[in-house]
Amino acid sequence: MDDLFPTALPIGIFHLKNRLDSTLQRDLANATQLVSKSAEFRHPTTKSGGIYSAEITNCGAVGWWSDSKGYRYTENDPRSGKPWPDMPKLFLDTLKSTLGGTSAEGFEPDACLVNHYVKGAKMGLHQDKDEADFAHPIVTISLGAAADFLIGGEKRSGPSQSILVESGDIVIMGGESRMRFHGIRKIYPGSSPLPNLDGRISLTFRKAL
Ligand code: CO
Repeated sequence: MDDLFPTALPIGIFHLKNRLDSTLQRDLANATQLVSKSAEFRHPTTKSGGIYSAEITNCGAVGWWSDSKGYRYTENDPRSGKPWPDMPKLFLDTLKSTLGGTSAEGFEPDACLVNHYVKGAKMGLHQDKDEADFAHPIVTISLGAAADFLIGGEKRSGPSQSILVESGDIVIMGGESRMRFHGIRKIYPGSSPLPNLDGRISLTFRKAL
């Protein structure tokens, strides 16, 4: 499912294809599973009562959360009242060893929002704007099933382009593209190369505080 004729990406967006080997992908998926044992995946709601089709959890000093009070980062898992699990060392080591020489070199996230998409799940176009300083990029690792990742402009209504993200890919959104709208149009069920992972997991790293 390679893009035979990849279109140019906007300045500030980098798609590092197949950056993580299959062993590392599997280890990252296993570490994610451990995170979800202490902070279970769940479908958050929006302020207006909508329900996300993807399920989420978090690890790190803070975690992204959405409910009737709106979007925010919290120190504790609102469901359990306990702090979000620590970010696995493997996550930080992986970023350190893969982001050298990229625009995100030296990136030190304090939050990782984990999204899990199964067949039919998607994420509407949105901006990531609950972080304190937009000078820091958002870095996303894809695991499992492939997906169409949408990249729009700084207005929701503008045109968008779609790139295919596959297991082991990394996407960096930073610089002048940091505030672009983005989303997941669909995932491709059955395309996961990881035996223990149904659907798609995205690890989205942020410097939130
Ligand atoms: Co986002």
